[in-house]
Amino acid sequence: MSKGIVFITGASSGIGEALATELASRGYDLGLMARRVDKLEEIAARLRTTYGVRVAVAALDVADDERVYGVVDALRDELGGLDVMVANAGITAINRTGAGKIDKDKRVIAVNLVGAIATLDAAAKHFRAEKKGRLVGISSIAAFHPIPGSGTYAATKAALSMWLRAARLELRKHGIGVTAVHCGFVKSELVPNMEKYPFVIEASDAARAIADAIEEERDEVVVPAWPWKAILAASKFVPEKLMPKMF
Ligand SMILES: NC(=O)c1ccc[n+]([C@@H]2O[C@H](COP(=O)([O-])OP(=O)(O)OC[C@H]3O[C@@H](n4cnc5c(N)ncnc54)[C@H](OP(=O)(O)O)[C@@H]3O)[C@@H](O)[C@H]2O)c1
Repeated sequence: MSKGIVFITGASSGIGEALATELASRGYDLGLMARRVDKLEEIAARLRTTYGVRVAVAALDVADDERVYGVVDALRDELGGLDVMVANAGITAINRTGAGKIDKDKRVIAVNLVGAIATLDAAAKHFRAEKKGRLVGISSIAAFHPIPGSGTYAATKAALSMWLRAARLELRKHGIGVTAVHCGFVKSELVPNMEKYPFVIEASDAARAIADAIEEERDEVVVPAWPWKAILAASKFVPEKLMPKMF
């Protein structure tokens, strides 16, 4: 019997794909969204065969925010419900300040912030009517810690984390939970050579921690907790000019 129905954006690679696999292994039915629908079809076929769960897929560019609502509604109709929405789709872009390439920044904001908010808003519409449900946002330790050359990426994650906090306060009385996930470095397609970043973990390990946070109905998690929670606490006492050496 299904443990529930979870939708994940950005499920065609990295953390989203690993989370889909982890949740399927725990018995959840899934709605998977991304632009590369061929990859989603492959993942869905593998999960259906391996775990016997139901998996529906949809092509979606979350930056096309008006389309997000229709796609979420259609997947919900197909699977007969929705219990947890994970806004995971994200991109990053190195953009040196002064380069004059504002389009790069606008795209990061459209995907990571406007797209994530639209995704969560589309689910919250149903959750309010049903007085239950959980919104999950995949944020980053960059929400707390500036990364030189990726200021816009960090700004989108800080804004998403604040949006999630506000939504949690707003939606609690409607029976809706909100989980903010702050990832450290995770091996994925997000940036080249991710394996060289400090304290990097496998996407499958991140997925296990995120699935645990969903099942435990946690408000805020750092993934992996060690050593990032200690580093984030200590960084309040480290002069900011030393930060570029840490990241
Ligand atoms: N890896 C890390 O170290 C790390 C750390 C902190 C936070 N995060 C966050 O974790 C999330 C997942 O990233 P990842 O590391 O797993 O990277 P990834 O392997 O590059 O995965 C990103 C996913 O987002 C999808 N995506 C990108 N743009 C999209 C769009 N416009 N519309 C819909 N889907 C889109 C991609 O699929 P398509 O190309 O098929 O659309 C892909 O499935 C992101 O929000 C990222 O910021 C990652």
